[in-house]
Amino acid sequence: MSSEEKLFHIAIDGPVAAGKGTVSRLVADRLGFLYVDTGAMYRVASLLALQNKVDFHDEEKIVNLIRNADIQMRNPIDFEKDGRLTTVIVDDKDVSWKIRSEEVGNGASKVAQIMSVRLVLVEKQQHIAANQNVVMEGRDITYRVLPNANLKIYLTGKDFVRANRRHIQLQSRGVDISFNQVYLDLISRDKLDSERQNDPLKIVDDAWIVDTTDLSIRQVVDLIVAKATVMRDVRL
Ligand code: DC
Repeated sequence: MSSEEKLFHIAIDGPVAAGKGTVSRLVADRLGFLYVDTGAMYRVASLLALQNKVDFHDEEKIVNLIRNADIQMRNPIDFEKDGRLTTVIVDDKDVSWKIRSEEVGNGASKVAQIMSVRLVLVEKQQHIAANQNVVMEGRDITYRVLPNANLKIYLTGKDFVRANRRHIQLQSRGVDISFNQVYLDLISRDKLDSERQNDPLKIVDDAWIVDTTDLSIRQVVDLIVAKATVMRDVRL
């Protein structure tokens, strides 16, 4: 059997603040896989548009910006372990925290609607997964980026619970924002993500739906690690 056949890919899709990032990072750590946050790439596209004062609908300029930028993503190294899940470097600048603002997140939902932007980023994501085991999370991973993933998961949770988690997360970073605003932003981003024409967020037939509303992070991680381990054992 070639090494490629032994690769194990876990694809996770789901709405805003379902816990995809935290869960994927922990699952990846437990299994010794690479964690890939694809949302970070759409956030970089949004940040570049904001920094260069490019309109979020200006397809050509945004594609040029991401094609010309040197985007590096890696597991946080020692001195970067400040609570981030992944380190993102754009043209030698660490933007790991900058891309986490609500402004950049809302812009990411807009640039993610552009098909040509998606094509460039999907290619980068497939390239990363081509020769290593990954836990990759986003909105189109289960059917566009890794349609042959060994384990496909749709991670979700009730709107109110997800908004509450996001609010606590933002407050712990010192961001002054009301729960109401976080809730409204979350609803509108979910709507954009699932109703857009190009590769919307959806549940594929062969996805395992994990509802995190009443589960702790630890419980969700344990469930996924157990399932992946059984699947790998059966296959190896
Ligand atoms: O997961 P996140 O909040 O960091 O993602 C930011 C935005 O990027 C989100 O609103 C939708 C978009 N996105 C996407 O369209 N496809 C992906 N694979 C990942 C994110």
